[in-house]
Amino acid sequence: MLLLPGGLLFAQSPARVTSLRTEYLENPLGIDALNPRFTWRIADPRRGARQTAYQVFFGTDSAKLLDAKAGGAGMVPSASQLVTYKAGPLRPFTRYYWTVVAWDRDRKPSAKAKIASFETGMLGSENWQGTWISDILPLDSRRASTDLDTKRAPYFRKKFTAGKRIRSARAYIAAAGLYELYLNGAKSGNHRLDPMYTRFDRRNLYVTYDVTPMLRQGDNVIGVLLGNGWYNHQSTAVWFFDRAPWRNRPAFCLDLRITYEDGTTEVIKSGNDWKTSLGPITFNSIYTAEHYDGRLEQPGWNTVSFDDSKWKAPGIRSAPSRNVVAQAMHPIRDVEIIPARSMRKFNDTTYVFDLGRNIAGVSQFTVKGEAGTTLRLKHSERLYPNGRADLSNIDYHYRPTDKLDPFQVDIFILGGTGTETFKPKFNYKGFQYVEITSDRPITLSQSDVTGYFMHSDVPPAGVVSSANATIDKIWSATNNSYLSNLFGYPTDCPQREKNGWTGDAHIAIETGLYSFDAITVYEKWMADHRDEQQPNGVLPSIIPTGGWGYSWGNGPDWTSTIALVPWNLYLFYGDIKALRDCYPNIRRYVDHIDQESPSGLTSWGLGDWVPVKSKSPVELTSSIYYFTDASILAKAAKLLGHAADAEKYAALAAKIRNAINARYLDTATGIYGSGIQTELAAPLCWGVVPEAMKSKVAAQLAKRVAADNYHFDTGILGAKALLNALSENGYADVAYRVAAQETYPSWGWWIVNGATTLYENWDINAKQDISMNHIMFGEIGAWLYKAPGGIRPDPASPGFKNVLLEPHFVAGLDRFEAKHDGPYGSIISAWKRNGDKIYYGVTIPANSSATLKLAVGSGAALYEGGKLVTSNTKGIKQLAGNGNTRSYQVEAGNYGFEIK
Ligand code: BGC
Repeated sequence: MLLLPGGLLFAQSPARVTSLRTEYLENPLGIDALNPRFTWRIADPRRGARQTAYQVFFGTDSAKLLDAKAGGAGMVPSASQLVTYKAGPLRPFTRYYWTVVAWDRDRKPSAKAKIASFETGMLGSENWQGTWISDILPLDSRRASTDLDTKRAPYFRKKFTAGKRIRSARAYIAAAGLYELYLNGAKSGNHRLDPMYTRFDRRNLYVTYDVTPMLRQGDNVIGVLLGNGWYNHQSTAVWFFDRAPWRNRPAFCLDLRITYEDGTTEVIKSGNDWKTSLGPITFNSIYTAEHYDGRLEQPGWNTVSFDDSKWKAPGIRSAPSRNVVAQAMHPIRDVEIIPARSMRKFNDTTYVFDLGRNIAGVSQFTVKGEAGTTLRLKHSERLYPNGRADLSNIDYHYRPTDKLDPFQVDIFILGGTGTETFKPKFNYKGFQYVEITSDRPITLSQSDVTGYFMHSDVPPAGVVSSANATIDKIWSATNNSYLSNLFGYPTDCPQREKNGWTGDAHIAIETGLYSFDAITVYEKWMADHRDEQQPNGVLPSIIPTGGWGYSWGNGPDWTSTIALVPWNLYLFYGDIKALRDCYPNIRRYVDHIDQESPSGLTSWGLGDWVPVKSKSPVELTSSIYYFTDASILAKAAKLLGHAADAEKYAALAAKIRNAINARYLDTATGIYGSGIQTELAAPLCWGVVPEAMKSKVAAQLAKRVAADNYHFDTGILGAKALLNALSENGYADVAYRVAAQETYPSWGWWIVNGATTLYENWDINAKQDISMNHIMFGEIGAWLYKAPGGIRPDPASPGFKNVLLEPHFVAGLDRFEAKHDGPYGSIISAWKRNGDKIYYGVTIPANSSATLKLAVGSGAALYEGGKLVTSNTKGIKQLAGNGNTRSYQVEAGNYGFEIK
């Protein structure tokens, strides 16, 4: 109760509305969504807390929002915390404010949430004023390829005078390639490797910066440095990005919009009135490395006083595509700074630094020496027995045409100006070690090398902690590999390929979403999918691609990303947008397989990649993914109101399922195929097994795993399925035994051998497929939340509106805690064994609920807050049980259960 000044009692809810996000970003600048999505959370620890109504206040005047009264026509009786803006059209370059009042279960309104804002960007290409420019144009050169072969990175600058006092200023910059933007000598923003990689001839991204504090009344200078990125791939490897159809010399387009205090605006724009020159970056490849010659520096190149009379005019280029849209996502950043843990000096020209852990990113190097001294910084994941950097596990798809572009080797030539620092701007690598060799003696110390762990800076959304230190290390290695493989699109590995391998990504999607709020990256990547899909529905195995991958590796076991990613976004966020946006694409994809494989079975695919010893038939695994896609399509059709499609694709899914079972399932024994792990696990995990056969098949799987001495005998598809198939069918203890192994082949085997990331191969001594930073065996991350943690989204009430909570108190583990921050807040599931008692703590966030399933052994009972759970226990309703499993519907709140 709030006592108003007049002495009136005003009933206000203690609930607080928090975490306001627009398009899943905090107060974003420069968004192009015509119907932005608003989300919020409710902080209200009371048991049964929920939202009965909400009201969104929206406008361009934040003061008016504060004054507006809650209630009346704007109040929406709904529990939703995800609202899509549908009022009148938004204007470009405009800041909008919004806030929310929520009514609690007693129908009392909360106070207004802290006001959130977002700012629109271009909202359409017609609002750009700048011109695409580049330093070298195809027409400049005698040989057509000269512009592409030019190695040095170009600088651009534009001096201008801001004639009046500045109220605000925004820079909008789109680039084909990569850029760094400077104003009056300072770098704008803390992003790295902007803009994110897209199929450049179909879609280009632009970024918006608030540059108000960087400008001044009077003279100013804008500086732009361009890098190649994936746009001008000069390195040569087996995927032929050097021949990508979009390839060209990097270019950019920029509008700097200044609003003066008198309300007038002025746009400084890119054009041929700028100046350009080549800079000290003598080579840059996103794939291999960066080279820098300190002697070519032009100090002050991006400041007002610099003399640019020797610089030339840039040339005008056509836009790389007609689709230039806002980059509305968590950017890549230098997220962690990792000092070298040790340094070994071999002689006065050779040193090896060890970061102590494997990362994706770059090293920064500080040194003092004579001008012209050439240093080579070789980055590797492992060392030869003699202590020198070993790249042989990651350089074998590289096809260099000369010795000038060594793999993961930065080359730094000293300018001789004193202490010099080098850190690549347009490259990243996968590495733990940095071997530095110099052509002249140098003195280095351990603090001269620092690692920067770079990745898409997605907010953490989960924590796992247990009584088993190896399990905890596996979880953190999984996160390290997940993040090392998130650079605006999910990749397979940060060193050998950096490719958007579809299969790796759908295997890791749940692991990613349990631990990170990564929706913005995936929504962008689904747009990449739509850009890459052939008219007949076919997708390439790597996305984006320069053309490679439409005829290798792109069966449904990999490219089912088109269905699996949007479906998981729907499950984890309760947001149907990606599913709606991809609906026609999923349908075209499924229709294509249907046409090619009228029997319902398809052998299109790679199958259970990098297996231990047994490999299940490709037809089985690929058909299972095809079945999954058809099922998702049917469910999506239903949700989106396409009734005829819903029926058609449910029938197709049933047909595929029947075809798989007819061909592979021996109903007498419950064995699929020859009964190896993947053959049994995949049908169970993906819902192919007929209900009545499930326990039989699961028993066969448990038997098979025991016969394999509780170790994996699968490749990546089986590793995704195995633990889930076991724990969802009564064999959680068996699953945990496999998960917690520390001998080959297992995750723990990697860990006890020093891994800080996940590997590509169970066999750490394998001769090939041995990247040390792959996420494709990463399902363990998700499984820990799902099985010992027991936290799963409910497809009937997605976005954890209702949580399916079924912790498995697995044998051999005495404590387990999982926390996932879903759309409604933190879900906590934490248990501890004490003799034959289990203490189980649960938090269900406000405005959500849980269906709790607990194994309560015969003779034991369930207590909450020290009291026996009965039909009178507040917030808990008993549902029909089944054997030793009791089911409850639990309201929001904190619970301390005990089973004893
Ligand atoms: C990649 C994988 C990928 C596989 C497909 C490998 O080279 O690194 O992660 O999924 O190829 O064949």
